[in-house]
Amino acid sequence: MSEKATREIVMSGMRATGALHIGHYFGALKNWIQLQDQHECFFGVMDWHALTTHFKNPEGIAQSNRVMMAEYIAAGVDPDKCVLFIQSQVPEHLELYFIFSTLTPMGWLERVPTWKDAEEEMRVSDTHNLGRFSYPVLQAADISVYAGTRVPVGPDQVSHLELSREIVRRWNHLFKGHWPEPKPLLMRPQVVPGLDGRKMSKTYGNSILLFEESKDLQKKIRGMPTDPARIKREDPGEPSKCTVYSYHQLFSSAEDLSWVESGCRTAGIGCGDCKGRLIENIEKVILPLREKKKEFLNNPTRLDSIVKEGCRKARERASRNLSEIKKQMKWPLT
Ligand code: TRP
Ligand code: SF4
Repeated sequence: MSEKATREIVMSGMRATGALHIGHYFGALKNWIQLQDQHECFFGVMDWHALTTHFKNPEGIAQSNRVMMAEYIAAGVDPDKCVLFIQSQVPEHLELYFIFSTLTPMGWLERVPTWKDAEEEMRVSDTHNLGRFSYPVLQAADISVYAGTRVPVGPDQVSHLELSREIVRRWNHLFKGHWPEPKPLLMRPQVVPGLDGRKMSKTYGNSILLFEESKDLQKKIRGMPTDPARIKREDPGEPSKCTVYSYHQLFSSAEDLSWVESGCRTAGIGCGDCKGRLIENIEKVILPLREKKKEFLNNPTRLDSIVKEGCRKARERASRNLSEIKKQMKWPLT
């Protein structure tokens, strides 16, 4: 691995829930791609976390593991610059998770806002289970098993990370250790609205996949609502009231942006023109990624060997760290 600027260890991951959408890309992956040049990084596909909500379909998660690995790499996460792993292939995560779970008071978990807010939804969807309750403890183990010092997070993950810090702090206190408390790496969050203007989410069915096929992309963009003021072609509109414009801001050049702004406000362009240009611009970004992903999926042995090598590297580090942790606790090593 090349020399990195600092001694920070960055750790992050995504739940293995299937194909990535552009919210994942602009919200996280783009940051990872930057971070891999600056720090030592561990990035994972978190399949145990996915199992807490999708426990009835483990087979589907196993498929997601492969797809997401191929997509991470095709999008630019470079296995030569960072360690890419699948969570369940590094069993040390679970061992540290259990150690952490014993020193985490129930009250800490009950206070986590994501748990409190979602309790009703969990009962309805039959996911009110122990694994999901202890989700943040597993997340703490994910980070600390690599002695992670920095975690790129969006605002919705800050409370989980705070809990990770508290757990490590308690471990340090109990065992007179000096394990690093992971700090958030607050990245400029690029929030991507869904096709309908709500938050982009798989559960809402309002997402554009990062590797969307052309004809699906066309269909999705063409069907998007626009500024309701533009009833007829001659009616001017306001781009800031239109999700199509939000996407232009992610995918289009400054020149195209001013074309949209003035064209929309003067009714110089129609919404069809505006969407057509957006589709072209998204295609330009997605096309090379799509090709790269196909190459991977057509060459499963290559993907397999990259994944295997990543998991091996992750495991090497994780088992070394776990031994150190257990030694400090005077817990039997063998
Ligand atoms: N909870 C994260 C998500 O919902 C995934 C995740 C699991 C994670 N373990 C982590 C993120 C550790 C950062 C660090 O996407
Ligand atoms: Fe939206 Fe573009 Fe239509 Fe304006 S011209 S309302 S930005 S789609």
